[in-house]
Amino acid sequence: MSSQNFYILGIESSCDDTAASVIHNGRILSNVVASQKIHEEFGGVVPELASRAHQQNIVPVVHQAIEKAGISKEKLSAIAFTRGPGLMGSLLVGTSFAKSLAYGLNIPLIDVNHMQGHILAHFIEEDGFEKPPFPFLAMTISGGHTQIVRVDNYFEMNVIGETIDDAVGEAFDKSGKILGLGYPAGPEIDRRATLGNPKAFKFTKPKVDGLNFSFSGFKTAVLYFIQREVKANPNFIVENLNDICASIQYTIIGILIDKLKLATKQTGISHIAIGGGVSANSGIRKALKDGEQKFGWTTYIPKFEFTTDNAAMIAIVGYLKYLEGDFAEQDIVASARLKI
Ligand code: KG4
Ligand code: ZN
Repeated sequence: MSSQNFYILGIESSCDDTAASVIHNGRILSNVVASQKIHEEFGGVVPELASRAHQQNIVPVVHQAIEKAGISKEKLSAIAFTRGPGLMGSLLVGTSFAKSLAYGLNIPLIDVNHMQGHILAHFIEEDGFEKPPFPFLAMTISGGHTQIVRVDNYFEMNVIGETIDDAVGEAFDKSGKILGLGYPAGPEIDRRATLGNPKAFKFTKPKVDGLNFSFSGFKTAVLYFIQREVKANPNFIVENLNDICASIQYTIIGILIDKLKLATKQTGISHIAIGGGVSANSGIRKALKDGEQKFGWTTYIPKFEFTTDNAAMIAIVGYLKYLEGDFAEQDIVASARLKI
């Protein structure tokens, strides 16, 4: 198949990043992301502002992706787009744009599940990165999702554990907000955690049965802890910020690793791939690598640019579906709660 020349354009607009990428036989030619800064001042993504920004960004971002790939749009074999899950107003922009472009160029349209994108990003052809063998476990950790997925084949996957409330990225972001850090707080907590003592403060881990997660109680525990300490010492946060960040991150990593240990025990699968924005976290990456020695895992950690939302992951799913002739009709609609 790879002797053929397939060019797939991927479009991602599920949350607050407008992204487009062109992939040629599984290899990335361009990967453009326009992140929306507007949400920072609100401490979280404002859906209405996100969809307006997508409308402004989508034409230049797609144009740039095609230009950087060094091809003309007439060369494209198909258009892949994120159908869901995500914010409806944001998804609508990418969906409508993809539909009209595919219609105009008279080429196939391919719908992609965003979460499958995070998982199948591991199949992008990249020098120095190995692809996980089937079956493997994928842990998708982002601002919107926390799941453990058993992946038996490209499109045979089952969620075996997920959060019952907040996503792990929200645990980072909401804890950061309590500490007065900017949005999103994950990267800042990560940076400060490397400078602090992870055992300085102890937060209890939530007790959730099986492979499911819960993070809303953790956030409340951080809030009460900070309120109590600040009452006793108004400078508590400034004086201990790195230690607080390190302790928060240490607890979150512990929660994730405990569940992965249980998942490998229950399934007998020890190949573990991670994806989603939180997999950029240096502590999580290290804990997974350490798991190779400690628990006999083989881990697959994506290239940094494929962890947070991007369109290369949408384009690779588009390519895999293209090879199977799995196309969408023009009457397809966006689906905010699309399941794997
Ligand atoms: O996948 P993503 O870009 O968007 C969603 O689909 O949510 O993930 C964004 C999330 C945010 O919660 C952000 O704080 C978190 O990923 N994040 C991190 C790091 N980089 C991004 N969390 C912890 N450590 C990081 N280094
Ligand atoms: Zn995502």
